[in-house]
Amino acid sequence: MRYSSLVDRLYNDGAAGWDVHMAAWRAQARGEDVIVLSVGDPDFDTPAPIVDAAVDALRSGDTHYGPIIGRPELRAAVAADMSARTGLSLGGENVMICAGTQNGLLAAAMCLLDAGDEVIGLDPMYLTYQSTLGVTGADIVRVAQPAAGGFRPDAAAIEAAVTARTRAVVITTPNNPTGVAMTRAELEAIAEIALRHDLWVVSDEVYSDVIFEGEHVSIASLDGMAERTVTVGSLSKSHAMTGWRCGWAVAPVSLVRHFDALQVNVNYGIPGFVQAAALAALTEYREAFRPMVDAYKRRRDLAAQVLADAPDLPVLVPDAGMYLLADVRAHTDSVRRFVRELFDATGVSVIDASAFGDSCRGWIRLSFTLSDDALVDGCTRLVDFLKSR
Ligand SMILES: Cc1ncc(COP(=O)(O)O)c(C=O)c1O
Repeated sequence: MRYSSLVDRLYNDGAAGWDVHMAAWRAQARGEDVIVLSVGDPDFDTPAPIVDAAVDALRSGDTHYGPIIGRPELRAAVAADMSARTGLSLGGENVMICAGTQNGLLAAAMCLLDAGDEVIGLDPMYLTYQSTLGVTGADIVRVAQPAAGGFRPDAAAIEAAVTARTRAVVITTPNNPTGVAMTRAELEAIAEIALRHDLWVVSDEVYSDVIFEGEHVSIASLDGMAERTVTVGSLSKSHAMTGWRCGWAVAPVSLVRHFDALQVNVNYGIPGFVQAAALAALTEYREAFRPMVDAYKRRRDLAAQVLADAPDLPVLVPDAGMYLLADVRAHTDSVRRFVRELFDATGVSVIDASAFGDSCRGWIRLSFTLSDDALVDGCTRLVDFLKSR
């Protein structure tokens, strides 16, 4: 049977990079001695009072259809939260509640991009972007944020990539996999390009609360940007709620109306009890992320300390996020093979970071979403492996 041409655009080049991760999961399920440093899911449980809010909602019969774009009280809570952080005066009508950042990104792509348009993506980028943006038929123009420049955005290179076909720039701050949080000055330079060339900016801020150094700045808060920015985020990382699939897109009201029309056809709304939990997380338990972020920061420092003992292993200590990058170019000419050999010899799984784009070629990504002891054990095995080669 024949499939649509869209089906071909659903696949990501980076998917092969997950082979070893999948092998590690299977080995862990068999009870083998493996340490999974390749996952991006918080190891913490969702804070109990947030779970209780969902259970209470379920028990009180919150099991029916609701407003497709999200409940007014949750939309208002997201708007209030973002207004407090940015100084913008947003209302619930600026917000779509959706199935995670991922669903917000897809909605933005579907409502902003046509086949034949160009969308600028900063490399490295989260690996689903290729298909999330690409399903529209738009061409993704990758602009490198090279390792030599600390994986930071290069405004001149972004400007040089703009053509008459460019419709949007997609940014991720803080970034996965680099953990780079863009500075106000870097965002101002991108905003200036967007204003000059009349472009949308889609800003993935899913790690905005998981920040260790510096402050998180939303590009929407800069002069003239709120009307051309879609800010996407979720509770997945901040409140350890990846499985709840609850996030948002904050955008001009005219665009949010189109999101509503789109979601009628996509998922017909997010479960009410999930929204009840999200409302509790964003109001009463807003600060619940802090102890988890403290733990990530402590683990980041622990991992960096252990890895400092490795021969020829430059490490990028991240400002934010849950991952650390290490440059293994001194040890291999094929990171893909290196990752496999590391796993076979030590049981430690990491990701070949080139899955996120060419800018990360030669680097591996380690996550610190596991206990301090397991993390130290995993990093020590990596160091011993490098010493033994
Ligand atoms: C940069 C980035 N964007 C989006 C997502 C997906 O987030 P969500 O669970 O909110 O859909 C992830 C998950 O790892 C991510 O790293």
